[in-house]
Amino acid sequence: MLDRPTVAAPTLDQPFRHGPAKPNLLSVEDAKALDVQTMADLFKDHINPGQFHFMKLLGFHKVKIERAEGMYYTDQNGRKILDFFGGFGSLAHGHNHPRILAARERFQDEKRHEIAIAFLSQYASALAKNLAACSPGELDMVFLGSTGSEAMEAAIKVAERASGRKNCKIVHAENSFHGKSKGVLSLTDSPLYQGEFQLVGNRVKVPFGDLPALKRAIENDSDIGVVVLETVQGGGGIVGAPTEYWQGVRALCDKHNVLWVADEVQCGYGRTGKFYAFEHHGVVPDVTALAKSLGAGKAAVGAMIAKRDVYMKAYGTPKTAMIHAQATFGGIGEACVTAIEGLNVLYDEDLIGNSAETGAYLLDRLKAIQAKYPQIIKDVRGQGLMVGLEFHDFSRTLPLALRPMVAILDDKLKGSLSGFIGALLLRDYDVLVAFTEYNRNVIRLEPPLICEEEHVDQFCDALDGLLSRGIVSIAKDFVKSQMG
Ligand SMILES: Cc1ncc(COP(=O)(O)O)c(C=O)c1O
Repeated sequence: MLDRPTVAAPTLDQPFRHGPAKPNLLSVEDAKALDVQTMADLFKDHINPGQFHFMKLLGFHKVKIERAEGMYYTDQNGRKILDFFGGFGSLAHGHNHPRILAARERFQDEKRHEIAIAFLSQYASALAKNLAACSPGELDMVFLGSTGSEAMEAAIKVAERASGRKNCKIVHAENSFHGKSKGVLSLTDSPLYQGEFQLVGNRVKVPFGDLPALKRAIENDSDIGVVVLETVQGGGGIVGAPTEYWQGVRALCDKHNVLWVADEVQCGYGRTGKFYAFEHHGVVPDVTALAKSLGAGKAAVGAMIAKRDVYMKAYGTPKTAMIHAQATFGGIGEACVTAIEGLNVLYDEDLIGNSAETGAYLLDRLKAIQAKYPQIIKDVRGQGLMVGLEFHDFSRTLPLALRPMVAILDDKLKGSLSGFIGALLLRDYDVLVAFTEYNRNVIRLEPPLICEEEHVDQFCDALDGLLSRGIVSIAKDFVKSQMG
């Protein structure tokens, strides 16, 4: 018989046990009841103290969300906050769409299985079939994962293998964002995120949207086998490229036997008014990737979708099949059910059409606001419900007399006006917007695709009201908010 360590005799509240005593754990009910101060302390103690600094600057640290439904959050004080951030495009269906909730409840009630790595999964198979049905051309083969980074890792790996080059090099763009996991980090053009990490060496950077530069790169280096581009750059500040560029990318890649990977993690899933943003340009990439709204706001789902011949070249034999097969949570049951229902809702409710129509209304209203405040708003751009609002550098927005003094600080102050405006939109107008990684003068607007004109009006009236205070008052109000 095994020797067991001596344990205390069981008592009523401490029954006999062989394993370790239960640590001091919070229950789900405890978590729900945490007050905002304790949440802040736990975030600083256990998650990210540095990030808390930014949340505090923006006033986000005072908000505890108690409910989320449709276009709105509701906080601990019953305040309804209009969501024009939309989780950087993760909430196409809005918060807690009833059909998505019902599909998940049915799945749970029926005690369906989750992990899909032993047996075939009816859910993973159906989701893959649906994704192929939503994708043009021969984009038929699907790899399921949990995040955009994972989908993009899969995308560059399948393309690299299928390129047939031994020392395959990958082209990516300036201001690109493809995720922060170690592989795609090398293709994410941010000195801050790349830091001092050891990056993969086989990459070549070109300016986004510059066809001659891409042509030069490909023609001068036959090792280049893959080109990776966001169709609309999100982190770059909602930057697209014209149809001639994309048709040129397709033609160049075809001519030189190079594979084109379109990152649609942020701009795909109907966000720009087509299922994929590349569909605006009449071209089809060799590989693409989706995530964010694919999980319908309730699950973590990412997908790589490749042309069948690309996939077969990379992993098409029993010997190569497991090289990049699904990971533990790839194709997990409830996430797949959520994504299947999400795709059905997307089409049943014509959310893609709504994105195009309501997005055009949003752009019109924003352009009118830009015309009213040309000294503050530099540009309004985008397509569908993926819109960027770019402010001038801070000094340009100030009265003439103050400009020269402040102009020398413009680089350091990049992002401050977006910060002031984002913070005050939340504090005074109950509206949430998103900031931008690289061009920090840009506020990103990616509301749920259920957004209607009344929500656009609420947002635009709030922005107009705030800007009418003038920049000096806005800056003063922000500074005061830091003292309160
Ligand atoms: C274009 C693009 N690609 C990839 C990613 C990475 O996705 P995730 O954060 O789910 O890993 C993002 C995330 O913002 C993105 O915008």
